Amino acid sequence: MNISSSKNISESVTWVGKWTFVLAAAGSAVGLGNIWGFSYKVGEAGGSAFVLIYLGCILVVGLPIMMAEIMIGRYSQHSPVSAMKKAAIDSGKSGYWQSVGWTGLFSGVLILSFYSVLAGICINYIGIAAMPNTDISSFEQYAQVTGSPSTLFFWHSIFIGMNIAIIASGVIAGIERMVRLLMPILFILMIVMLINAMINGDFNAGLAYLFTPDFSKVNPETFLSAMGQAFFSLSLGMGSIMCYGSYMRKSEDIFKTSLTVAGLDTLIAILAGLAIFPMIFAYGMEPQQGTGLVFKSLLTIFIEMPLGNIIGPAFFMLLSIAALSSAISLLEPSVAYFEENNIFSRSAAAIILGLIIWFVGIGSILSLNSWENEYFLGERNFMDSIIYLTFNILMPLGGMLVAIFAGWFFKPRLAMEELSAANVNIFKTWRFFIKFVSPVLVASVFIYQLLG
Ligand code: PHE
Repeated sequence: MNISSSKNISESVTWVGKWTFVLAAAGSAVGLGNIWGFSYKVGEAGGSAFVLIYLGCILVVGLPIMMAEIMIGRYSQHSPVSAMKKAAIDSGKSGYWQSVGWTGLFSGVLILSFYSVLAGICINYIGIAAMPNTDISSFEQYAQVTGSPSTLFFWHSIFIGMNIAIIASGVIAGIERMVRLLMPILFILMIVMLINAMINGDFNAGLAYLFTPDFSKVNPETFLSAMGQAFFSLSLGMGSIMCYGSYMRKSEDIFKTSLTVAGLDTLIAILAGLAIFPMIFAYGMEPQQGTGLVFKSLLTIFIEMPLGNIIGPAFFMLLSIAALSSAISLLEPSVAYFEENNIFSRSAAAIILGLIIWFVGIGSILSLNSWENEYFLGERNFMDSIIYLTFNILMPLGGMLVAIFAGWFFKPRLAMEELSAANVNIFKTWRFFIKFVSPVLVASVFIYQLLG
């Protein structure tokens, strides 16, 4: 696979390997969202109701929108801003649809700003898990890490630096190899952790917490949170998948690849839940701990688990790499935009955007210590506000607009051509969902939230 650094609008660049798109998209989807995000959102919402609504969202909202994003990207062979514009104009509609692309670039910058801080903590935990300080609890350990702005700052800078370097060097060439090798190892480690949770954890309590329907805890916020988590985890609603779609070969089957990526992503999240919650209950921890939940609970798990000082660091290392392949897909749409319009070179765009993101990230660093109780949106500190804004507003909004565009404005003939590898029933079903089900569901959750 080779995405040349001199790519311009007239050249169409495609990924060559049969599995390249699936691997790159899975590299984008699988990341901190599956382990950090899923567990903390489940804990915050109180368990099974969230999980079941989440699974529903993946199927009826996430999957159709993923197909729509890939379709628009591959049809137009451009980065999201220009892709939306071209798809709209070719369908005889207003070029203003490009604003959906712009919203996506904005979301990508915001997401990467806190994502990088969390990924930095994850890198830091490689060493901590190898040699934990057993004189202090994993809660105190986490407080020590987050209480030190300079430590957070250091790892945040390293992580952004790695992103810039990889993106500037003409992408993504390494992602396929990285994902092909590391994803299976991450998967195996998670199975080991699952077995550990079965043996040493309160597995029944974990299972019941995750899957026994208890809708007494459901409120409008649960729906919004589960939906936002679905968008975040599948990398939808901000252009990442659309951008990767523009590099996908015409011969690939959009339905099958979407199903594979969404399935893998969901599997990893569920595995993480099953590995973590039984241990949380066994050690009498509280599931409702916000963004620090996985770092505190995973460290406890590794300290107690046989071979934990080997499995722990390996796990955090793989998670950091998974985070890196997601982060690259967060930055790629905006870099591709600047490059394709000859505004900046690829390297200049990567550096400028990287620096902006790095700077915004300092707000999230401070939210973990001195700004912890400085509120921005409602009673949320800076990082929680950005998480709320991106997960619960920008990504669902972006996804909804993509769905409305793909269902109501994109020429059906063009959509059909893109889906031609699938049979006509799949096309019809997709069209029904993308027209009526996905956008209506997202809109009703929004409206309900406004009224509630
Ligand atoms: N899906 C990634 C994760 O779960 C995060 C991400 C969101 C990546 C949006 C790209 C776009 O960690």
